[in-house]
Amino acid sequence: MDAWNILITGSSGLIGSEAVEYFERQGHRVVGVDNNMRRVFFGPEGDTTWNLARLKNSTRHFEHFDLDIRDREGVVSLFKKHRFDAILHCAAQPSHDKAKEVPLLDFEVNAVGTANVLEAMRQFCPDARLVFLSTNKVYGDAPNERPLAELATRYEYSDPSDWNGIDEECRVDRTTHSIFGASKLAADVLAQEYGRYFGLNVGVFRGGCLTGPYHSGVQLHGFLSYLVKSALSGKTYTVLGYKGKQVRDNIHSLDVVRAAEEFFLNPRAGEVYNIGGGRENSVSILEAFDHIERIAGVKVRWEYRDEARKGDHICYISDLRKFRSHFPGWRLTRSLNDILEEIVDSERSQHGMSKGVARC
Ligand SMILES: NC(=O)c1ccc[n+]([C@@H]2O[C@H](COP(=O)([O-])OP(=O)(O)OC[C@H]3O[C@@H](n4cnc5c(N)ncnc54)[C@H](O)[C@@H]3O)[C@@H](O)[C@H]2O)c1
Repeated sequence: MDAWNILITGSSGLIGSEAVEYFERQGHRVVGVDNNMRRVFFGPEGDTTWNLARLKNSTRHFEHFDLDIRDREGVVSLFKKHRFDAILHCAAQPSHDKAKEVPLLDFEVNAVGTANVLEAMRQFCPDARLVFLSTNKVYGDAPNERPLAELATRYEYSDPSDWNGIDEECRVDRTTHSIFGASKLAADVLAQEYGRYFGLNVGVFRGGCLTGPYHSGVQLHGFLSYLVKSALSGKTYTVLGYKGKQVRDNIHSLDVVRAAEEFFLNPRAGEVYNIGGGRENSVSILEAFDHIERIAGVKVRWEYRDEARKGDHICYISDLRKFRSHFPGWRLTRSLNDILEEIVDSERSQHGMSKGVARC
């Protein structure tokens, strides 16, 4: 594409920072918005200042604004000043578990903040394309109703028709979402309406486990990143429920950003896609321990607590067939092994941290 003005919200976070680097490298002008609220949610370990500093050093056409997406006037004046061609909306309170402690703040950031961004787009750049990063938690625990078999190291779908995983037809109501899942669902549905009702080029990506080296992984968010951090620093990782056989599908942040680029190039107003690592990048916690031990040459120390998180998925694999059929140029470029090797390398060049609990 020609040089575009691209807005990335949550630009110091995992997906946002990958997007800043990627789009800037393609020759686009990138505006980032991030107020380091991850530190407010998760304390010093969630601080993203290091990532912003890294981006400032590695880019030339990146402008950062320390703006809160809840600040409606601030968002409006940003949109008045810049005419955006594309928007990747990643800013969020991203943790299932944190949300129960701060339900109002969670809703204000995830739902109202998203409304502010969508409405500013409608008023000031209605021809732009926008991707909103939603979550598989919008399905609540409905995926747990699929028949499952318990194997030696993981739960597995026992109905062959579920082999490819959960598709976008999964119902989104009458399930337990968690407070986080509910605030994201509010934003997800609103984003769909800006596509369907207003006809804007808005797409919704429902993420599985998004991961990569630029995650400020903390106990409450960032499954693989935090697991690797715990393993390398010799801390004990606590597995919560399901015997450690719960399955997650993991996608590298670069592949998420590439998916957003595909949507920007060929947008479909109001479409919803599941985006994750799919079956090939799926792993249970027990299997992840084995991979990390092999790759990092360390023994993972862990303990088990027989209390599953409320609304947690037992086996979640994103069915990628819809996205692949709409965007045949997109593919997963990083295997689970590649992802883990990269996180191990990146963590080894940083510092260790405290006791971990299994989260995503
Ligand atoms: N990481 C995952 O496993 C995962 C899974 C599914 C969906 N998602 C979604 O993808 C998106 C990106 O996730 P991520 O993993 O990059 O999260 P992240 O926490 O690494 O990045 C989000 C960034 O947004 C910033 N932010 C938070 N509130 C803000 C506000 N009010 N104003 C401005 N900036 C604010 C934070 O400081 C942080 O840098 C989120 O919407 C998240 O819900 C993530």
